[in-house]
Amino acid sequence: MWKPPERIRHPLPDGGWPTREEAAAARWFSPVHLGPVTLAQRTWVPAMVPWRASDEGFVTPDVLTWYARFAAGRPGGLVVEATGIRDIPSGPLLRIGHDRFVPGLRELADTVRHASGGETRLFIQLIDFLTVRRRPEPATYFARHLQVTDRHRAALGLGADTPESEVRSGLAGLADADLDRVLTTREIEALRYGYRERVTDVDRPHIRELPQLLPRLFADAAARAEAAGFDGVELHYAHAYTMASFLSARNDRADGYGSTPEGRLRLPLEVFRAVRERVGTKFAVGCRMLSEETIDGGSTLDDAAYFASRLATAGMDFIALSRGGKFEDAKQPGVGWSAYPYTGPSGHECMPTAISDQRGPFGRNVAPAAVIRRAVHDAGASVPVIVVGGINSFSQAEAILADGDADVVGAARQSLADPDWFRKVQLGMGESVRRCIYSNYCEGLDTKHKMVTCQLWDREALDEPGVRLTNDGKRRQVAPVWSPT
Ligand SMILES: Cc1cc2nc3c(=O)[nH]c(=O)nc-3n(C[C@H](O)[C@H](O)[C@H](O)COP(=O)(O)O)c2cc1C
Ligand code: SF4
Repeated sequence: MWKPPERIRHPLPDGGWPTREEAAAARWFSPVHLGPVTLAQRTWVPAMVPWRASDEGFVTPDVLTWYARFAAGRPGGLVVEATGIRDIPSGPLLRIGHDRFVPGLRELADTVRHASGGETRLFIQLIDFLTVRRRPEPATYFARHLQVTDRHRAALGLGADTPESEVRSGLAGLADADLDRVLTTREIEALRYGYRERVTDVDRPHIRELPQLLPRLFADAAARAEAAGFDGVELHYAHAYTMASFLSARNDRADGYGSTPEGRLRLPLEVFRAVRERVGTKFAVGCRMLSEETIDGGSTLDDAAYFASRLATAGMDFIALSRGGKFEDAKQPGVGWSAYPYTGPSGHECMPTAISDQRGPFGRNVAPAAVIRRAVHDAGASVPVIVVGGINSFSQAEAILADGDADVVGAARQSLADPDWFRKVQLGMGESVRRCIYSNYCEGLDTKHKMVTCQLWDREALDEPGVRLTNDGKRRQVAPVWSPT
């Protein structure tokens, strides 16, 4: 995991925990409407992939246990992890690309309703992503993956009729510096990081035709979420995935779906409209988008303010914000592993650690959220803006709401460290909150596609009756049960 060179260790901010009476009067524990859906309080657990789905993308007992544990803390809103909208194998990631996934998802919605005493509203994050391949062994890359062209023959000084096998072995024998000269940028990327598709690869029909395909896929997925009993969907327009790549300033598609801010926004708007038309009026439709891409040549805060205002005036029910989390600056993976978008500087923007730069990890996305929220209001829409990112105290959350920087304040890692923390704060028991130390141990597990747990509790009371252990048998899967009495 990348850390800024300054390597400043930041202590946790004071919790500013309220008494029960103060909490009762707090903005954070007051209701808010996300379109047709009312959150009982402005607390929120954003999407976190825990690597607990079956290899076929189904809800498992481990998935149910994971979400029930968050629901016990009764956040106003809980978002189920990024869930794939296509009917294609994608490993142990949840899927919603076919009706066969609905019964499991219905059980998940019922489980959360029950575990939260009906207090938590449940959303599911709908994601589309393009192909990312593992970094190959160089020998395999040159023997099989590379498409040999006359460009390679010419660079090696070989004639146009040289057999392909000879070109392949010629390339495989070159030193790195020579490969830099002979291969294209994309070929070098495929060799050293693993092949990765982009929305700008319009020479490939399936990429060119994404705008024709995605509105229907997202709409079908949202209809399934509604049928399964979710309160709404969060369209994943953030981080490194397809929809964020359309919004990206790096999207130079020339077919009306790129190049200008209007063009980049066109597909996200079309997807939203298709979803909105398909679902009922009581179902919330929002998105998660980036306040900034935080990569060279990436989208800026001005872009985000424009996108959010347009999405809000088009009728979105909420705008949830994240930042960074891109492939472009991801760390080089080991051979046999895929590049992961949270491993570079933009990953630190998304999930900053306690060891950080001058600005520190706490509330890095608050100032950008304030700018975006103002733009949304200036556009005549009062659509709620949701902010997360290094938020772990009552005082932070209350100040964000009091200053009008956002309408809902959430936490991913703090909620993983202590799924009961919202409840503890509300009950005037803030001193007993188990506070996240922003080590990113959990994110390290995510990067390795291992069951995500928190280092603060995963070795605790392993012999407790009924405790569910991770596949390696060494860690408990969810935080120990807490009860206020
Ligand atoms: C283990 C893990 C998995 C995550 N998975 C997702 C995801 O599926 N979708 C998403 O939009 N963000 C995901 N995130 C990012 C979080 O939602 C959140 O934006 C980020 O952790 C910053 O918030 P925090 O400082 O409160 O943790 C994930 C974060 C973690 C730690
Ligand atoms: S492992 Fe636990 S303490 Fe460390 S960052 Fe994740 S949630 Fe926080």
